[in-house]
Amino acid sequence: MKVNGTHYRTVWMQQTTVMLIDQNKLPFKFEIIASPHHTETCEVIKDMRVRGAGAIGVTAGYAMAQAFAEAGSDAEYVKIARKRIEATRPTARNLFYATDRVFAAGIKHGSKGAMQEAELLATEDIESCKAIGRFGSVLIDDGCRMETHCNAGWLAFTDYGSALSPVYHAVAEGKNILVYVDETRPRSQGARLTAWELANEQIPHTILPDNAGAWMMSQGEIDLMIVGADRIARNGDTANKIGTLEKAIAAHHYGIPFYIAAPLSTFDFDCASGKDIPIEARSEAEVLYQSGPDKDGVLHEILVASPGSAAFNPAFDVTPANLIRGIITEKGIIRPREEDIIKLREI
Ligand code: MRU
Repeated sequence: MKVNGTHYRTVWMQQTTVMLIDQNKLPFKFEIIASPHHTETCEVIKDMRVRGAGAIGVTAGYAMAQAFAEAGSDAEYVKIARKRIEATRPTARNLFYATDRVFAAGIKHGSKGAMQEAELLATEDIESCKAIGRFGSVLIDDGCRMETHCNAGWLAFTDYGSALSPVYHAVAEGKNILVYVDETRPRSQGARLTAWELANEQIPHTILPDNAGAWMMSQGEIDLMIVGADRIARNGDTANKIGTLEKAIAAHHYGIPFYIAAPLSTFDFDCASGKDIPIEARSEAEVLYQSGPDKDGVLHEILVASPGSAAFNPAFDVTPANLIRGIITEKGIIRPREEDIIKLREI
Protein backbone atom coordinates (compact mmCIF):
# COMPACT_ATOMS: atom_id res chain seq x y z
CA MET A 1 0.00 0.00 0.00
CA LYS A 2 1.04 3.62 -0.36
CA VAL A 3 2.17 5.96 2.38
CA ASN A 4 2.43 9.59 1.29
CA GLY A 5 2.44 8.46 -2.34
CA THR A 6 5.24 5.87 -1.94
CA HIS A 7 4.54 2.14 -2.11
CA TYR A 8 5.67 0.17 0.95
CA ARG A 9 5.59 -3.40 2.10
CA THR A 10 5.53 -3.84 5.88
CA VAL A 11 8.75 -5.84 5.71
CA TRP A 12 11.40 -6.48 3.06
CA MET A 13 14.98 -7.67 2.74
CA GLN A 14 17.96 -5.59 1.56
CA GLN A 15 20.89 -7.96 1.01
CA THR A 16 20.84 -9.68 4.43
CA THR A 17 19.25 -6.84 6.40
CA VAL A 18 15.57 -7.01 7.28
CA MET A 19 13.83 -3.66 6.78
CA LEU A 20 10.54 -2.92 8.55
CA ILE A 21 7.97 -0.26 9.26
CA ASP A 22 8.16 0.29 13.04
CA GLN A 23 4.54 -0.41 14.02
CA ASN A 24 5.10 0.60 17.64
CA LYS A 25 5.61 4.19 16.46
CA LEU A 26 2.46 4.30 14.31
CA PRO A 27 0.27 6.27 13.88
CA PHE A 28 2.36 9.06 15.38
CA LYS A 29 5.60 8.51 13.48
CA PHE A 30 6.37 6.65 10.26
CA GLU A 31 9.82 5.15 10.66
CA ILE A 32 11.72 2.37 8.93
CA ILE A 33 14.06 0.22 10.98
CA ALA A 34 16.90 -1.99 9.81
CA SER A 35 17.71 -5.32 11.45
CA PRO A 36 21.01 -6.73 10.21
CA HIS A 37 21.19 -9.89 12.40
CA HIS A 38 18.66 -12.66 13.10
CA THR A 39 18.85 -12.09 16.88
CA GLU A 40 17.81 -8.45 16.37
CA THR A 41 15.01 -9.57 14.07
CA CYS A 42 13.80 -11.86 16.89
CA GLU A 43 13.69 -8.87 19.27
CA VAL A 44 11.76 -6.83 16.70
CA ILE A 45 9.11 -9.60 16.50
CA LYS A 46 8.97 -10.03 20.30
CA ASP A 47 8.58 -6.28 20.89
CA MET A 48 5.83 -6.19 18.24
CA ARG A 49 7.57 -3.57 16.14
CA VAL A 50 6.34 -5.92 13.45
CA ARG A 51 3.14 -7.79 14.28
CA GLY A 52 0.13 -9.48 12.70
CA ALA A 53 0.23 -13.14 11.71
CA GLY A 54 1.34 -12.72 8.08
CA ALA A 55 3.96 -10.06 8.75
CA ILE A 56 5.31 -12.09 11.68
CA GLY A 57 5.56 -15.11 9.37
CA VAL A 58 7.41 -13.30 6.60
CA THR A 59 9.76 -11.62 9.10
CA ALA A 60 10.45 -14.99 10.75
CA GLY A 61 11.25 -16.42 7.30
CA TYR A 62 13.71 -13.58 6.71
CA ALA A 63 15.23 -14.13 10.18
CA MET A 64 15.73 -17.81 9.34
CA ALA A 65 17.39 -16.81 6.06
CA GLN A 66 19.63 -14.35 7.95
CA ALA A 67 20.68 -17.18 10.27
CA PHE A 68 21.73 -19.32 7.28
CA ALA A 69 23.75 -16.40 5.92
CA GLU A 70 25.42 -15.93 9.33
CA ALA A 71 26.04 -19.64 9.97
CA GLY A 72 28.68 -20.50 7.37
CA SER A 73 29.26 -24.24 7.83
CA ASP A 74 28.02 -24.32 11.45
CA ALA A 75 24.95 -26.64 11.28
CA GLU A 76 24.16 -26.20 14.99
CA TYR A 77 23.87 -22.42 14.54
CA VAL A 78 20.78 -22.62 12.32
CA LYS A 79 19.06 -25.11 14.64
CA ILE A 80 19.58 -22.82 17.64
CA ALA A 81 18.48 -19.83 15.57
CA ARG A 82 15.28 -21.63 14.55
CA LYS A 83 14.44 -22.31 18.20
CA ARG A 84 15.13 -18.67 19.04
CA ILE A 85 12.88 -17.42 16.23
CA GLU A 86 10.08 -19.83 17.15
CA ALA A 87 10.17 -18.68 20.78
CA THR A 88 9.32 -15.08 19.89
CA ARG A 89 5.51 -15.31 19.47
CA PRO A 90 3.81 -18.65 20.07
CA THR A 91 0.30 -18.22 18.64
CA ALA A 92 0.72 -17.03 15.03
CA ARG A 93 0.81 -20.21 12.92
CA ASN A 94 2.42 -18.26 10.05
CA LEU A 95 5.64 -17.98 12.03
CA PHE A 96 6.12 -21.76 12.19
CA TYR A 97 4.93 -22.19 8.60
CA ALA A 98 7.73 -19.81 7.56
CA THR A 99 10.53 -21.28 9.70
CA ASP A 100 9.62 -24.81 8.50
CA ARG A 101 9.87 -23.83 4.86
CA VAL A 102 12.97 -21.64 5.03
CA PHE A 103 14.80 -24.10 7.28
CA ALA A 104 14.08 -26.98 4.86
CA ALA A 105 15.20 -24.87 1.88
CA GLY A 106 18.39 -23.81 3.69
CA ILE A 107 19.31 -27.38 4.63
CA LYS A 108 18.79 -28.52 1.04
CA HIS A 109 20.16 -25.58 -0.95
CA GLY A 110 22.23 -23.52 1.52
CA SER A 111 22.02 -19.84 2.37
CA LYS A 112 21.00 -18.74 -1.15
CA GLY A 113 18.15 -21.25 -1.18
CA ALA A 114 16.97 -20.05 2.25
CA MET A 115 16.92 -16.46 1.03
CA GLN A 116 14.97 -17.39 -2.13
CA GLU A 117 12.41 -19.32 -0.09
CA ALA A 118 11.97 -16.37 2.31
CA GLU A 119 11.33 -14.07 -0.68
CA LEU A 120 8.89 -16.57 -2.14
CA LEU A 121 6.98 -16.58 1.17
CA ALA A 122 6.67 -12.79 1.01
CA THR A 123 5.38 -12.94 -2.58
CA GLU A 124 2.88 -15.68 -1.72
CA ASP A 125 1.69 -13.69 1.28
CA ILE A 126 0.89 -10.74 -0.99
CA GLU A 127 -0.82 -12.85 -3.67
CA SER A 128 -2.93 -14.72 -1.08
CA CYS A 129 -4.09 -11.50 0.51
CA LYS A 130 -5.02 -10.07 -2.90
CA ALA A 131 -7.11 -13.19 -3.64
CA ILE A 132 -8.79 -12.94 -0.20
CA GLY A 133 -9.79 -9.41 -1.20
CA ARG A 134 -11.38 -10.64 -4.44
CA PHE A 135 -13.33 -13.44 -2.76
CA GLY A 136 -14.31 -11.44 0.31
CA SER A 137 -15.58 -8.36 -1.51
CA VAL A 138 -18.72 -10.27 -2.64
CA LEU A 139 -19.82 -10.29 1.01
CA ILE A 140 -19.75 -6.50 1.14
CA ASP A 141 -22.78 -4.69 -0.25
CA ASP A 142 -22.82 -1.04 -1.23
CA GLY A 143 -23.56 0.92 1.95
CA CYS A 144 -22.30 -1.88 4.23
CA ARG A 145 -21.40 -1.07 7.82
CA MET A 146 -18.70 -3.53 8.67
CA GLU A 147 -17.04 -4.07 12.03
CA THR A 148 -13.51 -5.39 12.43
CA HIS A 149 -11.31 -6.16 15.42
CA CYS A 150 -7.61 -5.49 15.91
CA ASN A 151 -5.55 -4.99 12.76
CA ALA A 152 -5.75 -7.51 9.96
CA GLY A 153 -4.92 -4.98 7.26
CA TRP A 154 -1.77 -4.62 5.20
CA LEU A 155 0.29 -3.86 8.31
CA ALA A 156 -0.50 -7.38 9.56
CA PHE A 157 0.82 -8.94 6.32
CA THR A 158 3.37 -8.01 3.70
CA ASP A 159 0.68 -6.08 1.79
CA TYR A 160 -3.15 -5.83 1.39
CA GLY A 161 -4.04 -7.73 4.59
CA SER A 162 -6.71 -10.34 5.28
CA ALA A 163 -9.84 -8.84 6.91
CA LEU A 164 -9.28 -5.44 5.28
CA SER A 165 -8.35 -6.74 1.83
CA PRO A 166 -12.05 -7.30 0.91
CA VAL A 167 -12.69 -3.71 2.03
CA TYR A 168 -9.93 -2.34 -0.22
CA HIS A 169 -11.25 -4.46 -3.09
CA ALA A 170 -14.89 -3.44 -2.56
CA VAL A 171 -13.95 0.25 -2.36
CA ALA A 172 -11.98 -0.09 -5.61
CA GLU A 173 -15.19 -1.52 -7.14
CA GLY A 174 -16.95 1.69 -6.17
CA LYS A 175 -18.85 0.51 -3.09
CA ASN A 176 -19.41 2.86 -0.17
CA ILE A 177 -18.44 1.27 3.12
CA LEU A 178 -18.26 2.42 6.70
CA VAL A 179 -15.80 0.44 8.79
CA TYR A 180 -16.33 0.28 12.55
CA VAL A 181 -12.94 -0.29 14.11
CA ASP A 182 -12.76 -1.88 17.58
CA GLU A 183 -10.07 -0.04 19.50
CA THR A 184 -8.63 -3.42 20.67
CA ARG A 185 -7.12 -2.87 24.06
CA PRO A 186 -4.60 -3.26 25.51
CA ARG A 187 -2.29 -2.43 22.60
CA SER A 188 -4.99 -0.66 20.57
CA GLN A 189 -4.05 -2.10 17.17
CA GLY A 190 -7.53 -1.10 15.97
CA ALA A 191 -7.48 2.51 17.12
CA ARG A 192 -3.84 3.02 16.15
CA LEU A 193 -3.12 0.82 13.14
CA THR A 194 -6.42 -0.06 11.44
CA ALA A 195 -7.67 3.50 11.77
CA TRP A 196 -4.37 4.81 10.36
CA GLU A 197 -4.50 2.37 7.44
CA LEU A 198 -8.07 3.29 6.56
CA ALA A 199 -7.40 7.02 6.94
CA ASN A 200 -4.45 6.60 4.63
CA GLU A 201 -6.75 5.05 2.01
CA GLN A 202 -9.44 7.65 2.71
CA ILE A 203 -11.97 4.97 3.66
CA PRO A 204 -14.72 6.16 6.05
CA HIS A 205 -14.26 4.61 9.48
CA THR A 206 -15.24 5.14 13.11
CA ILE A 207 -13.38 3.81 16.14
CA LEU A 208 -15.55 1.99 18.68
CA PRO A 209 -14.68 1.45 22.34
CA ASP A 210 -14.02 -2.26 22.84
CA ASN A 211 -17.16 -2.73 24.88
CA ALA A 212 -19.53 -1.09 22.35
CA GLY A 213 -19.76 -3.86 19.74
CA ALA A 214 -22.71 -5.79 21.22
CA TRP A 215 -24.69 -2.58 21.72
CA MET A 216 -24.06 -1.46 18.14
CA MET A 217 -25.19 -4.87 16.89
CA SER A 218 -28.34 -4.75 19.05
CA GLN A 219 -29.19 -1.39 17.46
CA GLY A 220 -28.96 -2.75 13.91
CA GLU A 221 -25.86 -0.64 13.20
CA ILE A 222 -23.62 -3.50 12.05
CA ASP A 223 -24.27 -5.48 8.84
CA LEU A 224 -21.18 -7.66 8.75
CA MET A 225 -18.12 -8.49 10.80
CA ILE A 226 -14.83 -9.66 9.28
CA VAL A 227 -11.75 -10.31 11.41
CA GLY A 228 -8.37 -11.92 10.81
CA ALA A 229 -6.86 -15.00 12.42
CA ASP A 230 -3.63 -16.00 14.06
CA ARG A 231 -4.19 -19.76 13.95
CA ILE A 232 -7.04 -21.88 12.64
CA ALA A 233 -7.45 -25.44 13.90
CA ARG A 234 -8.53 -28.34 11.68
CA ASN A 235 -12.12 -28.13 13.00
CA GLY A 236 -12.40 -24.39 12.22
CA ASP A 237 -11.89 -23.08 15.77
CA THR A 238 -9.98 -19.83 15.32
CA ALA A 239 -7.52 -17.94 17.51
CA ASN A 240 -7.56 -14.19 16.99
CA LYS A 241 -6.87 -11.09 19.07
CA ILE A 242 -8.38 -11.10 22.55
CA GLY A 243 -11.92 -9.74 22.42
CA THR A 244 -12.82 -11.52 19.18
CA LEU A 245 -14.73 -14.25 21.02
CA GLU A 246 -17.15 -11.89 22.71
CA LYS A 247 -17.81 -10.12 19.39
CA ALA A 248 -18.52 -13.48 17.73
CA ILE A 249 -20.94 -14.42 20.52
CA ALA A 250 -22.74 -11.08 20.14
CA ALA A 251 -22.83 -11.39 16.33
CA HIS A 252 -24.29 -14.89 16.62
CA HIS A 253 -26.91 -13.66 19.08
CA TYR A 254 -28.01 -10.84 16.77
CA GLY A 255 -27.76 -12.88 13.55
CA ILE A 256 -24.94 -10.80 12.08
CA PRO A 257 -22.68 -12.66 9.62
CA PHE A 258 -19.28 -13.17 11.25
CA TYR A 259 -16.40 -14.12 8.92
CA ILE A 260 -12.73 -14.93 9.38
CA ALA A 261 -10.27 -13.93 6.64
CA ALA A 262 -6.97 -15.81 6.51
CA PRO A 263 -4.52 -17.39 4.08
CA LEU A 264 -3.66 -21.10 4.17
CA SER A 265 -0.42 -20.26 6.02
CA THR A 266 -2.59 -19.54 9.10
CA PHE A 267 -4.22 -22.99 9.12
CA ASP A 268 -2.70 -25.53 11.49
CA PHE A 269 -3.65 -28.90 9.99
CA ASP A 270 -1.96 -30.71 12.90
CA CYS A 271 -4.07 -28.92 15.47
CA ALA A 272 -7.35 -30.79 16.00
CA SER A 273 -9.28 -28.05 17.79
CA GLY A 274 -8.96 -24.70 19.50
CA LYS A 275 -8.02 -26.44 22.75
CA ASP A 276 -4.62 -27.22 21.24
CA ILE A 277 -3.80 -23.65 20.21
CA PRO A 278 -1.11 -22.06 22.42
CA ILE A 279 -2.23 -18.68 23.72
CA GLU A 280 0.44 -16.05 24.29
CA ALA A 281 0.37 -14.22 27.62
CA ARG A 282 2.02 -10.82 27.44
CA SER A 283 3.32 -8.40 30.02
CA GLU A 284 0.86 -6.79 32.46
CA ALA A 285 2.52 -3.46 31.66
CA GLU A 286 0.60 -3.42 28.35
CA VAL A 287 -2.65 -3.26 30.34
CA LEU A 288 -1.48 -0.90 33.08
CA TYR A 289 0.27 1.68 30.89
CA GLN A 290 -0.63 3.47 27.67
CA SER A 291 1.60 5.55 25.45
CA GLY A 292 0.98 8.51 23.23
CA PRO A 293 2.51 11.82 22.14
CA ASP A 294 2.38 15.10 24.04
CA LYS A 295 1.60 18.35 22.21
CA ASP A 296 5.20 18.50 20.96
CA GLY A 297 4.98 14.99 19.51
CA VAL A 298 7.21 13.39 22.17
CA LEU A 299 5.99 9.89 23.09
CA HIS A 300 5.28 9.17 26.78
CA GLU A 301 4.02 6.22 28.77
CA ILE A 302 1.46 6.88 31.45
CA LEU A 303 -0.12 4.70 34.13
CA VAL A 304 -3.85 4.20 33.47
CA ALA A 305 -4.75 1.92 36.40
CA SER A 306 -4.71 1.96 40.15
CA PRO A 307 -1.02 2.06 41.22
CA GLY A 308 0.19 -1.34 42.38
CA SER A 309 -2.71 -3.39 40.97
CA ALA A 310 -1.85 -6.50 39.00
CA ALA A 311 -3.17 -7.23 35.51
CA PHE A 312 -3.56 -10.32 33.32
CA ASN A 313 -2.92 -10.00 29.61
CA PRO A 314 -3.86 -12.96 27.38
CA ALA A 315 -3.11 -11.80 23.82
CA PHE A 316 -5.60 -14.06 21.98
CA ASP A 317 -8.83 -15.97 22.44
CA VAL A 318 -10.40 -18.82 20.49
CA THR A 319 -13.72 -18.49 18.69
CA PRO A 320 -15.45 -21.84 18.28
CA ALA A 321 -16.26 -22.83 14.70
CA ASN A 322 -20.02 -22.83 15.28
CA LEU A 323 -19.97 -19.03 15.69
CA ILE A 324 -18.19 -18.49 12.37
CA ARG A 325 -20.26 -18.14 9.15
CA GLY A 326 -17.32 -18.76 6.85
CA ILE A 327 -13.57 -18.43 6.32
CA ILE A 328 -12.36 -16.28 3.42
CA THR A 329 -9.18 -17.82 2.02
CA GLU A 330 -7.13 -17.33 -1.15
CA LYS A 331 -8.89 -20.44 -2.54
CA GLY A 332 -12.41 -19.18 -1.87
CA ILE A 333 -14.84 -18.93 1.03
CA ILE A 334 -15.20 -22.16 2.97
CA ARG A 335 -17.31 -23.38 5.87
CA PRO A 336 -15.37 -23.76 9.13
CA ARG A 337 -15.67 -27.54 8.98
CA GLU A 338 -12.96 -30.18 9.08
CA GLU A 339 -13.94 -31.67 5.70
CA ASP A 340 -13.72 -28.27 3.96
CA ILE A 341 -10.48 -27.35 5.71
CA ILE A 342 -8.77 -30.62 4.80
CA LYS A 343 -9.86 -30.16 1.15
CA LEU A 344 -8.09 -26.75 1.05
CA ARG A 345 -4.74 -28.51 0.87
CA GLU A 346 -5.73 -30.34 -2.27
CA ILE A 347 -7.13 -27.42 -4.28
O1 MRU B 1 -0.66 -9.41 18.60
P1 MRU B 1 -0.74 -9.06 17.14
O2 MRU B 1 -0.97 -7.62 16.85
O3 MRU B 1 0.38 -9.66 16.34
O4 MRU B 1 -2.05 -9.84 16.76
C1 MRU B 1 -2.37 -10.18 15.51
C2 MRU B 1 -3.55 -9.42 15.12
O5 MRU B 1 -3.42 -8.28 14.75
C3 MRU B 1 -4.87 -9.98 15.14
O6 MRU B 1 -5.13 -11.01 15.96
C4 MRU B 1 -5.35 -10.11 13.72
O7 MRU B 1 -6.71 -10.04 13.72
C5 MRU B 1 -4.88 -11.33 13.03
S1 MRU B 1 -3.34 -11.12 12.32
C6 MRU B 1 -3.70 -11.20 10.66
